[in-house]
Amino acid sequence: MSRTPIVVGNWKLHKGIADALALATEVKNQLSALRDVEVGIAPVFTALHAVGKRLDGCPVALVAQDCFWQEQGAWTGEVAPSLLADVGCRYVIVGHSERRQHFGELDAAVGLKARAVLAAGLAPILCVGETDRERDANETFARLRAQLAGALADVPAADAERIVVAYEPVWAIGTGRSATPAQAQEVHAFLRAELRDRFGDVAAKMRLQYGGSVKPENAAELLSMPDIDGALVGGAALEAAKFVAIARAARRA
Ligand code: 13P
Repeated sequence: MSRTPIVVGNWKLHKGIADALALATEVKNQLSALRDVEVGIAPVFTALHAVGKRLDGCPVALVAQDCFWQEQGAWTGEVAPSLLADVGCRYVIVGHSERRQHFGELDAAVGLKARAVLAAGLAPILCVGETDRERDANETFARLRAQLAGALADVPAADAERIVVAYEPVWAIGTGRSATPAQAQEVHAFLRAELRDRFGDVAAKMRLQYGGSVKPENAAELLSMPDIDGALVGGAALEAAKFVAIARAARRA
């Protein structure tokens, strides 16, 4: 089953409009011609519109870092998926561990967001991952199963192919300590089996990203694993040269 790898840069809380445009322009210039890999960048909300205009007509996808699940109403400070579509987003990250950890997001809320993203015609990048405490306690698979169950309840199999699942072990995010390719592959194979139980054969077409201290030095090996179909990149995505090298490493032979 051939799946087009997808490499997304999650810029987190970095780069105002001017800096975001400069980095987006470098990514666009260096990666627009890249074949057989889908590339996306996720700037802060306030830079989405400007970056979206810069990417207009270019294959690099605009990605939002989060969203709310309601379309409109008295929800001060929130942003609806349709508004993200309005500025040109194609993907929305939901359930990032930083949202879960620092903003109290629970699996059920992540599920509401994932379904709202799908309803707006966009694709969710659903983040899952265990903490080091959970890994040490042998709870990794139970935690991941619960995260998938919460986020994917009531999602019909017809929508599954649009969903990207990002495995981001919390202990590997921003620590410089990536999962080994074998560790990541073991989890990705587990995730695909869970997705097959839930959605059937379409699971073979779903793309599973790895995230957590991905850098040019480890990208090729991680991305060569059979169930790793791309990367969700944090720190290294803030430097064009590193992000470009990672995206190029995703090209399958
Ligand atoms: P780092 O690549 O900085 O570890 O961050 C990973 C991440 O959280 C991407 O969403």
